[in-house]
Amino acid sequence: MSQFPVPDQAAATDLGAALRSVGYSEDALNRLLGEDAYSGDQDDAPVDERRLPDTPVATVVRAFFLQLPVSRSDAVRALGERGVQALTATGLAAVGEEVDPRVRILPIGNVLLASDGYSRDGDDPPDYVATYTPTARVLDSLTPRPKVERALDVGTGSGVHALLAARHARHVTATDVNPRALAYTQLNAALNGLANIECRQGSLFDPVDGETFDLITCNAPYVVSPERRWAYRDSGFHEDEVSARVVKAAGEHLAEGGFASLLVSWLAEDEDSPDERVLAWVEATGCSGWILPTQGSDPLDHAAEWNSHLAGDPQAFGEAVDEWEHYFERLGVRWVSEGAVLLHRRSNGRRAIRLDQVDEEDLDEAGDQIQRAFESWIPLSELGRPGRLLDARVSVAMPLLLERELEPQGTRVIDVEGRIELAAGMKQAVDATADAQEVIASLDGSLSLRAVIEATGDRLGLSDGELSQLESEVLDITHVLLEIGALEVKA
Ligand SMILES: C[S@@+](CC[C@H](N)C(=O)[O-])C[C@H]1O[C@@H](n2cnc3c(N)ncnc32)[C@H](O)[C@@H]1O
Repeated sequence: MSQFPVPDQAAATDLGAALRSVGYSEDALNRLLGEDAYSGDQDDAPVDERRLPDTPVATVVRAFFLQLPVSRSDAVRALGERGVQALTATGLAAVGEEVDPRVRILPIGNVLLASDGYSRDGDDPPDYVATYTPTARVLDSLTPRPKVERALDVGTGSGVHALLAARHARHVTATDVNPRALAYTQLNAALNGLANIECRQGSLFDPVDGETFDLITCNAPYVVSPERRWAYRDSGFHEDEVSARVVKAAGEHLAEGGFASLLVSWLAEDEDSPDERVLAWVEATGCSGWILPTQGSDPLDHAAEWNSHLAGDPQAFGEAVDEWEHYFERLGVRWVSEGAVLLHRRSNGRRAIRLDQVDEEDLDEAGDQIQRAFESWIPLSELGRPGRLLDARVSVAMPLLLERELEPQGTRVIDVEGRIELAAGMKQAVDATADAQEVIASLDGSLSLRAVIEATGDRLGLSDGELSQLESEVLDITHVLLEIGALEVKA
């Protein structure tokens, strides 16, 4: 195990205070390096460095965002003598004439997150602790954030989901098998002045046996592979067993009213029915579940993607892909899916399971959408006949984008296609004619759905037949938009 980080709480607290007082934040990064700062990699650092002025905050960006050495005098000017001493005490940098950073520290929202430095791909050690990765961002976006008593983050890594939960949970437990991950989590808690995060070492849910939580997050080491190379990637479990265990245990540890947001993967023998296993896992939890596949691939693409670090060495790449393909062949697996499983435990009302594809590249913060969606499943299941929804007062609950495609036909212009897209959150879309869009756009919760449809019909001069067609279309669309949290039923 590397000698850093050292989770010296007093030193990390000093360092956090110094970083904040120099103004190190997402805003400062965007101002100094532009909106794309976070998508750069180590190759971009020398160019990014040239954009930086000679100011104290730019020194911090140079050292801990770009992971480049700075002079000791510049570091003292930016962080003060105590801040520089804290770097030595925590092991986050080698301090001599120069300050040579061993780690990166990224501002993520209001959180400062220290982790191992830029990845060296195949040369990363087995206990490498990654920063705020694209999958960490997906899990962050898909986590509901109500005020809760107890939260749990399993496989915490740098601790990012524990830190984010610590802002709205009274107490957070963070688990990992990797002691370096837990050292980073403890250090990061102090860096952010948080005293409500408890770290426990152990596999999956073993360290929290018999306990329940109001919020559970887990970005699982879900990559199905024949290898055991990196703690963050390979769980060492067979097939997709780590994911099955995470879903099952999350259900068991979820308190009444609680939410779980889990990133997992699942296998299928048949590309045309890719989700049977995950559906069965969720069904067995007894919770309501929302399954959100983000990608699916055949074993070859899966093997190529997860061995891309070998792309510069065709022989090693070929051997690895062969080994992975043989593993999947032996398992009889033809399709691998990755995505999120969201669980909600509610003992009153009927439970439901829904599945929607989401585009992980086009995902905004969706926590409120998720809470609203689960909230509406109970009244929807209790309504019985869909027609009873006509008596409910419904309102638009999040930004919507209404799209119409028009085509000239003779002397007229006709609607050929239309859809309603969520302009925030998970950005799903449903087909909707222009007339149905009119109805949805008028839903402010003041009138029943029936009254809004009738008023729209009057305004558009619809015949009885056209009105009943509109009613049936609006009922279907309203049902879906309620289920995905874009609309809400008013009490
Ligand atoms: C994909 S990383 C996620 C890290 C972090 N939560 C995030 O979202 O950035 C998976 C994490 O699970 C940890 N891990 C691997 N096997 C584990 C196990 N059996 N039990 C608990 N954690 C495990 C790894 O050390 C790593 O920190």
